[in-house]
Amino acid sequence: MQRRNFLKSTALFGAALAASQANAFSLWKNSAQKRIALVGTGIRGSSLWGRNLVENYGEQVEFVGLCDINPGRVAFVKGAMGVDCPAYTDFDKMMTEAKPEWVIVTTMDSTHDAFIIGAMEHGANVITEKPMTTDAEKCQAILDAQERTGKQVLVTFNYRHSPHNTAIKQLLHDEEVGKVTSVDFHWYLNVYHGASYFRRWHGYVENSGSLWVHKATHHFDLLNWWVNAKPVAVTAFGALEHYGKNGPFRGESCRSCEHKAECPYYWDITEDEYLMNLYVDNEEYDGYIRDSCVFREDINIWDKMSAQILYDNDVVVNYSLTTYSPYEGYRIAFNGHNGRIDSWEDIPYQRGEYSKDEQAALHGAEMEFKTEEVPTEFHEVILHKNFERDFKSIKVPKYRYGHGGGDRRMLDYLFVNPDAADPLGHMAGTTDGAYSVLIGIAARKSIAEGRMVRLDELVKV
Ligand SMILES: NC(=O)c1ccc[n+]([C@@H]2O[C@H](COP(=O)([O-])OP(=O)(O)OC[C@H]3O[C@@H](n4cnc5c(N)ncnc54)[C@H](O)[C@@H]3O)[C@@H](O)[C@H]2O)c1
Repeated sequence: MQRRNFLKSTALFGAALAASQANAFSLWKNSAQKRIALVGTGIRGSSLWGRNLVENYGEQVEFVGLCDINPGRVAFVKGAMGVDCPAYTDFDKMMTEAKPEWVIVTTMDSTHDAFIIGAMEHGANVITEKPMTTDAEKCQAILDAQERTGKQVLVTFNYRHSPHNTAIKQLLHDEEVGKVTSVDFHWYLNVYHGASYFRRWHGYVENSGSLWVHKATHHFDLLNWWVNAKPVAVTAFGALEHYGKNGPFRGESCRSCEHKAECPYYWDITEDEYLMNLYVDNEEYDGYIRDSCVFREDINIWDKMSAQILYDNDVVVNYSLTTYSPYEGYRIAFNGHNGRIDSWEDIPYQRGEYSKDEQAALHGAEMEFKTEEVPTEFHEVILHKNFERDFKSIKVPKYRYGHGGGDRRMLDYLFVNPDAADPLGHMAGTTDGAYSVLIGIAARKSIAEGRMVRLDELVKV
């Protein structure tokens, strides 16, 4: 990894953590069936890390405890997973009694730090969902706790594992366009998936760190991994112009709303039995309304985001995130001294088709986990070398489910083939977790203070 022009303190931070990350994977590989506890039994915890592990990775994993702040939800999920381990609402009690070797953290983003640090202090290692955390102080506390305890933390960046994103990484790794100097990366959330963040706890910076952190951590991690360098500085702009206070009317929840007929964002949670059991039946315990109004006055995250990122190998990235697009997808281009790589995901008019229903169903399919994978179409990656007329079109199998097929590949690597080689560095630890959230945290600070923010202002080692 190139470290030119990078500050000493940040380089030390990276080096120390790279060493502990290497340990994370060897430690994981060396233990046989893992005694696992899960904290956060919401949709991600109960499905991908819950029922799916029980059904598809039962020989590798033994659940010894489930924990959630909501007693009704954790009790329901215990039944839905079909496990007989104890269910807790007190994390420390679970750690003391159940003594797990590994803790999976799938709670609300702003609480991850408490469970990552708490698990390590109780002597366990950690698998945490993204984002690793939501602000610089918590990030620092996680890094310090890992240093203090010597425990391991895996951050589950599933997007890295999709065949499409892996194919792009391979071309860059092979230096097909020479040294990369700049990247254009633009991500579009459609009006179904994008709106879903504004219905939930994600609509408040204090819960999710905003989409600069909650969502963009995926994108920044891909960028950091693809360009194989460390981010140094960020300049950003953002606004809330569509959802929240901008709406023409509002209600408390879609279920009770008097504007159902006229609201394009009306969403009927009662059609989904699992979501009713998971959330609506347990509102009495925590007051969490899963189908809240996307036009709530107090939503305080951005719905339009744009940033420039400078890396320590001089790569400059132009990034944007849109949350109310007619279609879901992304465009990316890498400019190198010897040519250019272009790719895109799900741009409907480039596929020659466009269906409103398909757009509505896309997010559901993304969250689905399938053990039998069949590619539905192909992604295209264009490799165009300078001074050559013809370009190469590389076709990569496309999977409609489990984050482009990334979820299944990541879990197989973790649980079934942990000894497999990892030549492209798909597995991620706290260094990756930190850098991917620090870009978004720097972007928030850049917007607030109207200036470029260096990452070494945020976290010191
Ligand atoms: N990698 C991915 O593609 C992906 C996809 C979806 C979600 N996620 C991540 O998974 C996590 C959970 O997301 P979700 O969609 O399941 O949300 P969710 O709201 O359905 O679940 C969160 C759960 O955490 C519980 N919780 C909140 N605060 C708690 C506390 N202090 N102590 C114990 N439990 C607490 C809630 O009661 C809830 O059951 C998030 O961090 C999210 O970013 C990742």
